[in-house]
Amino acid sequence: MTDAIRFLMCAPDHYDVDYVINPWMEGNIHKSSRDRAADQWHKLHHVIKDHAIVDLVAPEKGWPDMVFTANAGLVLGTNVVLSRFLHPERQGEEPYFKAWFEANGYTVYELPSDLPFEGAGDALFDREGRWLWAGYGFRTELDSHPMIAKWLDTEVLSLRLVDNRFYHLDTCFCPLKGGYLLYYPPAFDAYSNHLIERRVPAEKRIAIAEADAVNFACNAVNINEIVIMNNASAGLKQRLADVGFTVIETPLTEFLKAGGAAKCLTLRTTEPVLADVHARVTVQTRTIQMQGHLLDAGILNRALDLVVERGGSFKVLNFNLGVERQSTSIAEVRVSAPDRDVMEDIMTDLIELGAVDRPTEERDAVLEPVLLAGVGPDDFYVTTIYPTEVRINGQWVRVQGQRMDGAIAVLDTPTGPVARCKLLRDLTTDEKVVVGAQGLRTVRKVDERTKQTRAEEFSFMGSGVSSERRVELVVEQIAWELRHIRDQGGKVVVTAGPVVIHTGGSQHLARLIREGYVQALLGGNAIAVHDMEQAMMGTSLGVDMKQGVPVHGGHRHHLKIINTVRRHGSIAQFVEAGQLQRGVMYECVKHQVPFCLAGSIRDDGPLPDTEMDLLKAQSEYARLLEGADMILMLSTMLHSIGVGNMTPAGVKMVCVDINPAVVTKLSDRGSIESVGVVTDVGLFLSLLVKQLDQLTNPYATAV
Ligand code: ARG
Repeated sequence: MTDAIRFLMCAPDHYDVDYVINPWMEGNIHKSSRDRAADQWHKLHHVIKDHAIVDLVAPEKGWPDMVFTANAGLVLGTNVVLSRFLHPERQGEEPYFKAWFEANGYTVYELPSDLPFEGAGDALFDREGRWLWAGYGFRTELDSHPMIAKWLDTEVLSLRLVDNRFYHLDTCFCPLKGGYLLYYPPAFDAYSNHLIERRVPAEKRIAIAEADAVNFACNAVNINEIVIMNNASAGLKQRLADVGFTVIETPLTEFLKAGGAAKCLTLRTTEPVLADVHARVTVQTRTIQMQGHLLDAGILNRALDLVVERGGSFKVLNFNLGVERQSTSIAEVRVSAPDRDVMEDIMTDLIELGAVDRPTEERDAVLEPVLLAGVGPDDFYVTTIYPTEVRINGQWVRVQGQRMDGAIAVLDTPTGPVARCKLLRDLTTDEKVVVGAQGLRTVRKVDERTKQTRAEEFSFMGSGVSSERRVELVVEQIAWELRHIRDQGGKVVVTAGPVVIHTGGSQHLARLIREGYVQALLGGNAIAVHDMEQAMMGTSLGVDMKQGVPVHGGHRHHLKIINTVRRHGSIAQFVEAGQLQRGVMYECVKHQVPFCLAGSIRDDGPLPDTEMDLLKAQSEYARLLEGADMILMLSTMLHSIGVGNMTPAGVKMVCVDINPAVVTKLSDRGSIESVGVVTDVGLFLSLLVKQLDQLTNPYATAV
């Protein structure tokens, strides 16, 4: 009888729903009938006995879920990995199952007590024995997979469960004879679905609909050509019949109330052992270190959440809490991911949060050559706004020209390797580019707390998007900061949209420029056009700025302005000719504040100053942004996004827009230096100017 198929079952003498540890149990406490459960169990027992041998483990009082022997452990040959239940409600079953396995001659492997694994509920052999599918995400910890692979000497493929109704792998996944697979794809994350599709050819995948899934159609016992389950739709039965399987339905509704059905009630103890299958795991583990105000700044939470959201898992190995307000904490965290790709994704994000990948401290970054100018290698590391260092030949090299959405290009020079953030289009074939996330670290300032008071106040503003009530307070602080920067000879760059003019902000912005608060202006064709239209004709896009009503023929005004400036050759020449005497552009020319007008998609000009070559305009933006201490983004989403991408962390940014979505998008750089203000930009500028006046002459308004 050595090649007979055997199952382990446990009679439902003490079965009941006594607690809630999965969504099916909710509302079902003590709602199942023991008689009906016994009847259903016996029918299942009977059906299985027709096709295989059933061994029994004695039920134990007080352990109602012991009927679900799938969760006893995972058997291969004479080895068994015993379950480590996640929930205390089931942990008491462990010794009984262990005793049964030992009494029956198995070698029992036990995981560390803090590493949950729920046996064959979460681990299903390919029916041909080629590999083991192992689930994680709810009951089983990813870190158990490598140990299972080692003990059972098999290849483990990790699948992440994402729908809590399908908390065990066997509730939504059932390998069938001949390499077929019955499964419910939405229960898995995208990576796992990919993996399934790579291993199981399309013609062997039987994806089921939700209606069958919630009837536990995947929780089936497959014995050769027979598939035993609680219930299947006619369509599903037909699909299975088409590929040679016969469905036997046997109602298990009483057990559904506890979140289990046919497969859960059985443990297959004879799995095919193939001589040429050996331990193999793709699970990757890294240890990272993080240092900083991990708790106060919420960095540790963000890091740990991110690991799980991306499909990994973690264990905090060490946490050294900084006890004083000023002192920083240090955490050492072990991060696991089902494979290299997921790990790279997680690490890329963790590095952005300032984590250091400890083992890579001893490993260089991986560099790949640029084969085609302007095109990076596939896995190129996408840069962030944070100061970054790359490990090359054992040395940490600081990346120059830090910006977002670039690649790190490395060039060998006689004085050593030089690393630069470069846009894809600027990559040249003599360079190499960093791929993956190894040998990289970002330098997060840890001294944010200890900086002088004003900076702290600025960070207070950074705590979110300000709405009406807070606008004045925020304006006060920005005014203070602007003054400070001007007095120190610093640099403020303004990027502004035409709304600044339409909302009456022109005179205020002009004044900021005149009084030396602005060192560069970035915008498009429109802000300049409407600013000059207003200065010359009193309208902005044909609307009278005093009356607030469109003037007759006003829609032609801006074209007249464009034409006039074109005749003069440039805005500067227009000013020199004495024609333009006020406004934003006038002040820029008068006070030698450089400006860049980047393009126009409207075919109404453009001004001679407008740079229509967008690549040139982008480099001019970048040049004007160099060394900025603060950037004011005034009602222009796209110019602001461009500016944000070009700017490294550490530069203060103030984004003003009437649309909260724009403000949130722009101020969410994950850095405390950016602040969003949701308000009318004209109003904002008038408040700002008023506040600056107050700082200059505090008693003026009291008169
Ligand atoms: N009430 C049990 C639990 O939540 C049901 C187990 C079902 N078993 C299974 N292999 N899916 O643990």
